[in-house]
Amino acid sequence: MKNLKDLEKSIKEDIKTLDPIELKTKYLSKKGLLTEALKKIKESKDKVKYGKKVNDLKQTLEKVLVSSKRNTKNISTDGKIDPTAPFDVNTREEKRPKISDIKGSSHVLLKERNKILEIFQRMGFDMMESKQIDDDYHMFESLNFPKGHPAREMYDTFWTDENFVLPAHTSTMQNRVLKFFEPPIKVVLPGRCFRHEATDASHEHTFYQLEGIYVSRDASLGEMISVLQGFLEEYFETKIDIRMQPAYFPFTEPDLEFVISCPFCDKSGCSICGQSGWIELMGCGMINPEVLKAANIDPEEYSGFAWGVGIDRLVIMKMGISDIRDLRAGDINFLQMF
Ligand code: DAH
Repeated sequence: MKNLKDLEKSIKEDIKTLDPIELKTKYLSKKGLLTEALKKIKESKDKVKYGKKVNDLKQTLEKVLVSSKRNTKNISTDGKIDPTAPFDVNTREEKRPKISDIKGSSHVLLKERNKILEIFQRMGFDMMESKQIDDDYHMFESLNFPKGHPAREMYDTFWTDENFVLPAHTSTMQNRVLKFFEPPIKVVLPGRCFRHEATDASHEHTFYQLEGIYVSRDASLGEMISVLQGFLEEYFETKIDIRMQPAYFPFTEPDLEFVISCPFCDKSGCSICGQSGWIELMGCGMINPEVLKAANIDPEEYSGFAWGVGIDRLVIMKMGISDIRDLRAGDINFLQMF
């Protein structure tokens, strides 16, 4: 029993000074002092008394270890370490940190969206957010897709029973912006979009776009190119060459695909541009006169250009993220990298 008294004294002192890992090693590991004392129960003269005392000491020590706020959750009281255990190996409580212990920060998409908006703000653009639920008129009719128009098929999204639509692009805001502001109009609109599609590393059912709308008495394609090239060079912090390819959108005339030289390999070919040196980045064009008319703007007097670019796409390119789905997977280790 004398040994036990010494053991108790030493445990009480060590609890105050040692950290939980040291405590476990010293007392509860295979050759730990308490483990040795437990083994001696069998040989002791007064097994009941001795056994009770040793077990009380073990419990005291375990309580201290379990309530310890330090990171010992992967080490069980018998000293075994299981770093993969998704729960505290002693209490089996979930190991995830408490919300109140997590230091919060903005999502990478939000941070990058704000940088993008700041660049357009410096160019004199106003900002408005697009709607997350809309109607047929704004999704299609006002953009020169009459009912039954085959190009409607290009925008397969989700409809509610009441015939509302989750917008497949931010162009749903064109009619509203053109009606709300007096020309000259310079507006960018970030917004959440939805597509009914099978997801893969470069396609998501939910993503952000940035719509740009510019209307004045003499807006031209040349002006559009310089605005977009200026924006991209500032965002990617490098010189960019551009190419225009024909495309098809009912709401522009002409309709173009804005193609840029890869900002990461300077056209020599890399994994980001699929080894081609060029990236088809966004749809754009001069606003179709029918779209201006639907908003009571006279196309004889005014002209405009517009574009729609995927914000998620810009962000994964800039950050070198290989799977677009990572942006919404909610994996804290991924998010903490940005
Ligand atoms: N809304 C189109 C899309 O998501 C992109 C687009 C093309 C937007 C041409 C425009 C535009 O404003 O003028 O596919």
